[in-house]
Amino acid sequence: MVELGVNIDHVATVRQARRTYEPDPVWAAAEAELGGADGITVHLREDRRHINDRDVEVLRKTVQCKLNLEMSVVPEIVTIAIATRPNQATIVPEKRQEITTEGGLDLSVNSQSIADIVKRLRDTGVFVSAFIDPTAKQVELAGQLGFQAVELHTGEYANAKGPAQLHQLQRLRDAGTLVSQRGMRLHAGHGLNYLNVRPVAAIPNMLELNIGHAIVSRALFVGLREAVRLMKKVMNEKE
Ligand code: PXP
Repeated sequence: MVELGVNIDHVATVRQARRTYEPDPVWAAAEAELGGADGITVHLREDRRHINDRDVEVLRKTVQCKLNLEMSVVPEIVTIAIATRPNQATIVPEKRQEITTEGGLDLSVNSQSIADIVKRLRDTGVFVSAFIDPTAKQVELAGQLGFQAVELHTGEYANAKGPAQLHQLQRLRDAGTLVSQRGMRLHAGHGLNYLNVRPVAAIPNMLELNIGHAIVSRALFVGLREAVRLMKKVMNEKE
């Protein structure tokens, strides 16, 4: 069964719209777990536009399944990650002006400092994943820099239609094969929803999908517990 990491950033986005205490992402994590989430994913951004330090601290104490911290490699966030010790850290690129993460991390830039951070995280017992575009070059670099998992960026697949989408799916499959050959765990995420998730979940050796916006959106109408339950069902249905 492919595991589901539920990204609850957008619950915090709604809270931050009014700078108040609700909806609390800590409650969201509990609801997601009750719906069958295998992991809870949060991105502590430098600008704290949604998830904040308190959320990460409390979630570390309350989440019973896997806590996956998405993080950039800026020193302040690395220090917090090492102190918090999530079960998994996913290293992502981060630009202040972007609406959401726009692409995978380019591992050919600042490679040595990324490798050092991967080592520091691994030394504290954190399992480390790289969020990258589905190219052979990036997968090879992830293996060389000590990553234990790769999360393939599915944004281009999600945005494409018809034959172009099939082409993007093939890119994900090819990169996925290489990830497994290099001995890393295969994850994927970004832009996945109830309609486009199944072919990605069916990629050989796919172990984990991280999904946020679609689940939080569906939760407005059916509740988070049900939205998570439904996503897990759709992901694991046979085609
Ligand atoms: N994986 C990573 C690395 C991300 O940055 C995000 C977005 O925060 C997601 C998965 C989830 O993307 P979406 O909200 O489009 O499902």
